[in-house]
Amino acid sequence: MVKVTFIGHSCFLLDNGKEKMLIDPFISGSPVAKISAEQKKVDFVIVSHGHGDHLGDAIELCKSGGATLIANDEICTYSASKGVKKYHPMHIGGGFKFPFGSIKLTIAHHGSSLGKELLSGGEPAGIIVRTNGKVIYHAGDTGLFLDMKLIGELDKIDLAILPIGGNFTMDVPDAVRAVEFLKPRKAIPMHYNTNDFIKADPQDFIEKIKPLGTEGIILNPGETYELK
Ligand code: NI
Ligand code: MN
Repeated sequence: MVKVTFIGHSCFLLDNGKEKMLIDPFISGSPVAKISAEQKKVDFVIVSHGHGDHLGDAIELCKSGGATLIANDEICTYSASKGVKKYHPMHIGGGFKFPFGSIKLTIAHHGSSLGKELLSGGEPAGIIVRTNGKVIYHAGDTGLFLDMKLIGELDKIDLAILPIGGNFTMDVPDAVRAVEFLKPRKAIPMHYNTNDFIKADPQDFIEKIKPLGTEGIILNPGETYELK
């Protein structure tokens, strides 16, 4: 079992009972994030791309809490220059084994610039987390792409976490198509209704993926789903 807690926007806390992994920790600047002090004590912080609503509080959390940052090489190098001591750089490819399981970065069609200076944050990524026998695909920010079929073929995905808000990422119709490609057992929508640019109806998404055989789960910020 893996406990999956939606913190808000694209931020998710994964807890396998031993280790805690926080993905895309947009917290202090987020209008919707709900997280306790206890939930901030994580072992790993995983970042999909450089944008502020994903890198978020990663640098602070890794500096103050001692978590290890996992991200692409550019984001790790940038974070190290800001004082992060524990980090594991990787890139889109075959993945790496960690104490909790493994992480593999996938392609994502998006940007990844860092800060107002628009420093290079490398390529944006999706994140495949394997832990406790479960496979979770967090798509990061991305438009729809046909290689999602390959991602669904290489791994039997238990849970796909997909952006549905449009404008910057897939909208509901594209995310439904993504579910068709990925064939996950379950799906949770993200990256919607944080602001007026990304308004979407998660219920619409859930209903449209039901005929595809995928159970959709809507989480409000702060809510936890037990992935069995
Ligand atoms: Ni982005
Ligand atoms: Mn974003």
